[in-house]
Amino acid sequence: MAEKKEPRKITTHTLQEMKRAGEKIAMLTGYDFSMARALDDSGIDVILVGDSASNVMAGYETTLPITLDQMIYHASSVIRAIKRALVVVDLPFGTYQGNSKEALNSSIRIMKESGAHGVKLEGGIEVEDSIKRILSAGIPVMGHLGLTPQSIYKFGTYTVRAKEEEEAQKLLSDAEVLERAGCFSIVLEKIPANLAGEVTKRVSIPTIGIGAGGKVDGQVLVLHDMLGLTYEFHPRFLRRYANFYTEMKDAVGKYIADVKSSDFPNEKEQY
Ligand code: KIV
Repeated sequence: MAEKKEPRKITTHTLQEMKRAGEKIAMLTGYDFSMARALDDSGIDVILVGDSASNVMAGYETTLPITLDQMIYHASSVIRAIKRALVVVDLPFGTYQGNSKEALNSSIRIMKESGAHGVKLEGGIEVEDSIKRILSAGIPVMGHLGLTPQSIYKFGTYTVRAKEEEEAQKLLSDAEVLERAGCFSIVLEKIPANLAGEVTKRVSIPTIGIGAGGKVDGQVLVLHDMLGLTYEFHPRFLRRYANFYTEMKDAVGKYIADVKSSDFPNEKEQY
């Protein structure tokens, strides 16, 4: 009998090989067991347990309120669902900016308590020491530059970052800092496509863009946005692949009507 082949597991090395081979990386956010199982079965390469859970799962306006315990809860739900994808978890606001020891302790909690494969944090040279310390414990780190939502009160708006030369130069230099520090990949959020292309050429690690154009090594979207669950959010970079909000509303509407009319349950739907 032919041996049943397990699907290839994605590791940080796989992503590196994909960059070298020019194969694009597909990443989506995921926060719970059922959705993560569908993502993994669909063949997604990376699931990011993003702190956007604060927005789309908990309904907060920013990513700032979500806690380390809540991120661990989301991450462990995702981990229980996956067989193939690499799972990376956001270090939430306030759990790594203090000092590198705090960053390491938060990362260790995520890895130990959720079983995830790596962590992501926002920032450039300011978080270099933390990245090195986390890596010293053998924990893979993904960087995040450009629009970094945990700094929303510093930026003041969610508009495109690094359009001016000075900020673009800082971003290029930060990308090199992250690569030298040992990050296995960098998320580039909402920056001009040419700048994202320049970063992608300069660093040997994969870049994954969101609102950063096509000259990057991979793409990421927030799951609820691309599925059309957050129907009121439509930035230019977002492509919607479904209209789940409307479909759910229609389905729930039909269920309500069936219950009210005593159509549900019928003879076959009871014991
Ligand atoms: O939290 C998140 O969803 C993210 C992506 C936007 C990259 O960081």
